[in-house]
Amino acid sequence: VPRVFSGAQPSADSLHLGNYIGAVRNWVNMQNEDSESMFFIPDMHAITVPQDPAEMQKRTRVAAAQYIAAGIDPEVSPLFAQSQVPEHAQLAWVLNCITGFGEASRMTQFKDKSAKNGVDSASVGLFTYPILMAADILIYQADQVPVGEDQRQHLELTRNLAQRFNSRFGTTFIVPEGKIMKDSAKIYDLQNPTSKMSKSAETDKGIIWLLDEPKKTAKKIKSAVTDDGSVIAFDREAKPGVSNLLTIYSALSGESIDEIVARYEGKMYGHLKVDLAELATEQLAPIRQRALELLEDPAELDRLLATGAAKAREIASVTLKNVYEAVGFQQPV
Ligand code: TYM
Repeated sequence: VPRVFSGAQPSADSLHLGNYIGAVRNWVNMQNEDSESMFFIPDMHAITVPQDPAEMQKRTRVAAAQYIAAGIDPEVSPLFAQSQVPEHAQLAWVLNCITGFGEASRMTQFKDKSAKNGVDSASVGLFTYPILMAADILIYQADQVPVGEDQRQHLELTRNLAQRFNSRFGTTFIVPEGKIMKDSAKIYDLQNPTSKMSKSAETDKGIIWLLDEPKKTAKKIKSAVTDDGSVIAFDREAKPGVSNLLTIYSALSGESIDEIVARYEGKMYGHLKVDLAELATEQLAPIRQRALELLEDPAELDRLLATGAAKAREIASVTLKNVYEAVGFQQPV
């Protein structure tokens, strides 16, 4: 059966609707299919930009609680924090040494994330981050990696590094496939519908946090920026705001965008917003509630993460052993 692997950074106080629709929801579906899945919390990725240590610990637990509340079952899918499995960092070093500087320089996310404060104040960790991501995936010999559109380039790099390593040192890695859902892989900011919904946006008026109170969620949807005109139609170029609402509606209801558009013929933007607000709060409120309950027992969450990490290490240590042998290192102790 295919091994499914993915994760979301604990770099904000909550995951958001983009993470849910573009990633976590698909993890749950894939977990429930015939697969062997594992999910992790990339805390080592989060520190590529400054993080407050106490916040970091809290956010890791929030992410764990939200994965579980959304439907990840830690009994079925080991759940752990990246830093608990040292093999990620160990493999990342080896992969750093087969990645070209130019190749790493072409990663657009570094350009985006370092643009605001300038390259000189960005960390080297932020620069090499996609290589750590490749290590995350390859260390588990994952077959399928469900992610949003913004991770496509990193998955391509991961595949290239796996193939390069295999051809230089002998077949060691499975070359993984990205699972990027066609219609819902990019959810946009409700206030700025040409930018993706992102944990690092300037304001959070256009971001639906999974921990937002239902009232707040409804308010954010009702005050979403829409476009000139009044016809409800899907057109990313001319109507980015309405198109984003339709994408979210379709993802949450399971209906196709065409069906929704047909149903709203002759109606106004306001109708769509009111209905979407209801649909979203209905689906997100139980996830929020369950996450808050889980967060009341942080020791139990820590225990679950430690159990998951022990299972993960069983797999990771085998891959690292093979890698070290392939490159001519002494065996790991
Ligand atoms: P991160 O933490 O930015 O996002 C987690 C997941 O959510 C998806 N996503 C979105 N999908 C749709 N619309 C959006 N607006 C949106 N924003 C985020 C992301 O594509 C992602 O799937 N590098 C990764 C974390 C990572 C990882 C890995 C993932 C590290 N190692 C190994 C998979 C496998 C990241 O920063 O995702």
